[in-house]
Amino acid sequence: MPALLACAVSTNQDRDVMRNPSSVLITGASGGIGTALAKAYARPGVTLALTGRDRQKLGAASAAAIAAGANVLERALDLRDQAAVTAWVAEVEASHPIDLVIANAGITGGHHDGVEESIEEVRRLIDTNFLAACYTLHAALPAMRRRRRGQVALVSSLAGVRGLPSMPGYCASKAALLAYADAMRAWLRDDRIEVAIILPGNVDTPMAARENGPQPLMMSADRAAAIIRRGLAQGRSCIAFPRQLYWVLRVATLLPATPVDMVLNRFRVTVAAYD
Ligand SMILES: NC(=O)c1ccc[n+]([C@@H]2O[C@H](COP(=O)([O-])OP(=O)(O)OC[C@H]3O[C@@H](n4cnc5c(N)ncnc54)[C@H](OP(=O)(O)O)[C@@H]3O)[C@@H](O)[C@H]2O)c1
Repeated sequence: MPALLACAVSTNQDRDVMRNPSSVLITGASGGIGTALAKAYARPGVTLALTGRDRQKLGAASAAAIAAGANVLERALDLRDQAAVTAWVAEVEASHPIDLVIANAGITGGHHDGVEESIEEVRRLIDTNFLAACYTLHAALPAMRRRRRGQVALVSSLAGVRGLPSMPGYCASKAALLAYADAMRAWLRDDRIEVAIILPGNVDTPMAARENGPQPLMMSADRAAAIIRRGLAQGRSCIAFPRQLYWVLRVATLLPATPVDMVLNRFRVTVAAYD
C-alpha cells in the first residue's frame, strides 16, 4: 500500500477512536466540569478512570457514570504528588490502554478585597494548574507514543489568553498550559498523538462560585462538557468557548496595553481563598 494511503487509513482509525474513545482518563472528576465530562462520556463499553480528592463527590460522579453503563476506575489522590499520578496512570494503562486523557483539575485564585494574592497562592496555582497537568500528560505519553495513537486534552482557560487584573497567578498558570499544549502538539505530531487545548469562559461550577464580580456569558457545566466532547471528537486542537469572549481576548492581545487594562479593570472580581 502506498505510504500516503496507509497514512490516510490509519488517520480514519484514529478519527474513530476520537469519536468513540473506549478508555478515558479524567482528572478533577469530583468538580463541576469534570463530573459533567464523566457524564458526557459514560456509556456501555467505555471505561472511565476518574480522579479527584473529595471522596464523596468523586463517588457520586462514579455512581452516575456506572448508572449510565460505564466501567469506572476511581482513585482519590492529590495530583501535585507526581509519583502517585504516575503510578495511577500506569495502573489504568495496564488494564485499559488509554485513548483519551483530559487533564481538567484546577483551582482558581486571585486578589482578595484589595489584598494581593500571596506567593504561596501563586505557587499552589502553578503546582496544581500547570505542573500537575504536566505530570498527568507525561505519565500517559510513553504508552501512547508506543501505540502511535492517543488524544490529550489540557483544560486551560480564556484567562490564559490575556492576563486579567484580578487573578495574575491563575492567568499565568493557564497561559503556561496553553503554551505547553502548543509546543507538545507540534512535537507529538509525528507520533500521531493529538493534543487539544481547552479554553473555557465562565462555567457555573463550585470554582466559579468562589469568584465575586462580573462573569459574562456564564454557561452550565453540562453545556461546557458537550462542547468539549464534540470538539475532541472532531479532532480540534483548540476548543475555546464562548467564541465571542475568546475573540475579544485574542484581539485584546493585539491592542496597546493601556486602553485594554482600563477596560479590564472595569471587570475586576475578588476570589474567595481556599482553606
Ligand atoms: N468554572 C469556570 O468558570 C472555569 C473557566 C475556565 C476554566 N476552568 C477550568 O476548568 C477546570 C475545572 O474547573 P471547575 O470549574 O470544574 O472547578 P471545580 O468545580 O472547583 O473542580 C475542580 C476539580 O479539580 C480538582 N482538583 C483541584 N486541585 C486538585 C489537586 N491538587 N489534586 C487533585 N484534584 C484537584 C478538584 O478536586 P476536589 O474538589 O476533589 O479537591 C475538582 O475535582 C479547571 O482547570 C479550571 O481552571 C473553569
